[in-house]
Amino acid sequence: MRRTHYGGRDYRRAITVEDLRRIARRRLPNFTFEYVEGGAEDEIALKRNRDVFERITWVPRTLAGVGTPELSTEILGETCHLPLIIAPTGFNGMLWPQGDLMLARAAADAGIPFTLSTVSNFPLARMTAEIPKGIWFQLYPFKDPASVEKLVDRAAEAGVSTLVVTTDVPVLGAREWDQRNYRAPMKLSLTSVLDVLGHPGWLKRVMIPRGAPEFDNLKELLPPGAHSALAGVRFMGTQINSKLSWADMEHIRRRWKGKLVLKGILCVEDARRAVETGADGIVLSNHGGRQLDSCVSGVELLPAVSAELGGKLCVLVDGGFRRGGDVVKAMALGAHGVMIGRPALYGLAAGGQQGVSHALGLLRAEMERTLTLLGCRSLGELGRHLVRS
Ligand SMILES: Cc1cc2nc3c(=O)[nH]c(=O)nc-3n(C[C@H](O)[C@H](O)[C@H](O)COP(=O)(O)O)c2cc1C
Repeated sequence: MRRTHYGGRDYRRAITVEDLRRIARRRLPNFTFEYVEGGAEDEIALKRNRDVFERITWVPRTLAGVGTPELSTEILGETCHLPLIIAPTGFNGMLWPQGDLMLARAAADAGIPFTLSTVSNFPLARMTAEIPKGIWFQLYPFKDPASVEKLVDRAAEAGVSTLVVTTDVPVLGAREWDQRNYRAPMKLSLTSVLDVLGHPGWLKRVMIPRGAPEFDNLKELLPPGAHSALAGVRFMGTQINSKLSWADMEHIRRRWKGKLVLKGILCVEDARRAVETGADGIVLSNHGGRQLDSCVSGVELLPAVSAELGGKLCVLVDGGFRRGGDVVKAMALGAHGVMIGRPALYGLAAGGQQGVSHALGLLRAEMERTLTLLGCRSLGELGRHLVRS
């Protein structure tokens, strides 16, 4: 028997997220693909995020007469057509021109929220002007309280419904494979430069029209005239808050009147603390395996957190979701919704907005098929009784 994957570059030929990943790999220079793909240190957490799904198995109900199952649900007061949110990811402009906007448009078409990162390449106010509903904003709580207040106030002015505060970056994770592509900050090694030259399509699409994308969201915070990507990276380096604490979250809670989600929670005690702080939701997340290596995966915490706190706050989860069936597993274990990072980015790199829509369509079809085979008419019929883990 001979099995082969599709070896071309047409996103429409992808029948799984993994196919889109392979197309993205071919279309991107190595240093950009590495930025998306890699994890911290030995990438044990990164691998674990995928491995956990193999240990969760189904115990389906047969002859249930399901028809086409219903995938819509409510997340933090918003109706979502799928139980998905596009996770915040920085530097999306390196994958496709106006990458953030392409992701947001595909999310809006699919009826799900999109989260714009603090370190995005597209300004928040322009994003909400283009797409007034379903835009969430992710905040890196910087060292300088004035910058934090400015970003929180700007999110309110832009009409954002939900602020996602990332709690798991008191220091940047060591993404060593990523570092090896550079000889100095933002200066590619010779090998990487030669590899870039072997990707004329990407150069023509991304780099030649505008050069390296800048951190359009941070411009107000950068010194006048210092708006380059390198200046943004340097600023970020000075602003990571190694003393980040619950007191900072309380401060943000007092200032932000909309829905507040804390991203990077990984134990029941911290989830309880999030409730006490007045958070409306949490994301059980290890940052896609990019921060603390050998870290537990968010999915592993779901049963305990949702049993204890599922009625008190919205429990979201992310990390390693590559199949619609993975999403359905999380929903059966008590999640209210799932954030996806890389699957959307693979779609973006493989085919821009249409590529992202394709990725979401594949996940939707897999979710529908899984629910039908489980004997469930809707996400509401899922539960622990269908899972052995
Ligand atoms: C390329 C990339 C950039 C990311 N940038 C951010 C970011 O700016 N802010 C943030 O909170 N999380 C960021 N993350 C983490 C994602 O929000 C999310 O937690 C993770 O990607 C989920 O795992 P998955 O990629 O396996 O779906 C990033 C992840 C990736 C892959």
